Amino acid sequence: MPRVLDGAAIAAAIKLEVATDVKRLAAEGIRPGLAAVLVGHVPASEIYVRSKVQACADLGIFSDLITPPETVTTEDMLDLVAGLNDRDDIDGILIQLPLPAQVDTKALLDAVSPLKDVDGFHPVNAGRLQAGRPALAPCTPAGVIQILERSGIPIAGQYAVVVGRSDIVGKPVAMLLLNQNATVTICHSKTRDLAAITRQADILVAAIGRPGFIMPEMVKPGATLIDVGINRVTTRGEFDRYFAGNAKREAAFAKRGSTIVGDIHPKAFELAGAYTPVPGGVGPLTIAMLMANTVRAARMRRNLPRRGH
Ligand code: GUN
Repeated sequence: MPRVLDGAAIAAAIKLEVATDVKRLAAEGIRPGLAAVLVGHVPASEIYVRSKVQACADLGIFSDLITPPETVTTEDMLDLVAGLNDRDDIDGILIQLPLPAQVDTKALLDAVSPLKDVDGFHPVNAGRLQAGRPALAPCTPAGVIQILERSGIPIAGQYAVVVGRSDIVGKPVAMLLLNQNATVTICHSKTRDLAAITRQADILVAAIGRPGFIMPEMVKPGATLIDVGINRVTTRGEFDRYFAGNAKREAAFAKRGSTIVGDIHPKAFELAGAYTPVPGGVGPLTIAMLMANTVRAARMRRNLPRRGH
């Protein structure tokens, strides 16, 4: 039986460590603060940001939720970010993506102070990560490394294949794995004979955004499978493609009318040595690492030594 890597438990352990550090900082009169910027009314974004704000409250981190209207301009957003860069009670700035089409997302991400860039999306942090310097790393990729490390899965010398080349997940997770001395290949939609490459992976990271894309024949038996995908399944046909005969999923689907599948087909998990389930694998780490980055940014800005993570 493959080992299930329990992301929720790992995230809880990290949050506990972050809460301890927040208490330590409080004794020095410091309260880390996160500004969460949520534009308009994208339901998924509203859920994510609510969870992030709640996590701050749970851990003793100050948070300020800022909710510009859907019609906000790039200028207004740049002014907002400039104000947050200047605020002493704010250590981390999170701009929830996606933004409305009229807002220049790249210009905005470039305007966030790299010292407060807790999402790790600023080119300065991407460059620092690439150059092997201390950097605020993107939360989901950093979470993937935490899962591997805390589960005792070796990275150094292993062959890691990342499927997906996004700036948010694929590229940074590949860089983090490389920095940990894995041999890394990044694959994408134009890669020829993808299965021949993924079949060699000791660690296979799927971050494609396509439901059940990694099929059993694309996996080396015994590999570690890390599934970053979150795809909603709403039709019976789709459900049967991924979960036919799965009584637990059947009950959830019947109750809610939908369920979640990752980028790896559930049948492929059966071949793994270890895998992150969806939900409950990588997902919970994203918020835990955002909290860790916020406290790290609070320390960095004050020239205090880093603790953990
Ligand atoms: N939208 C989807 N994922 C993310 C993330 O990790 N950070 C931000 N800011 N927006 C997102």
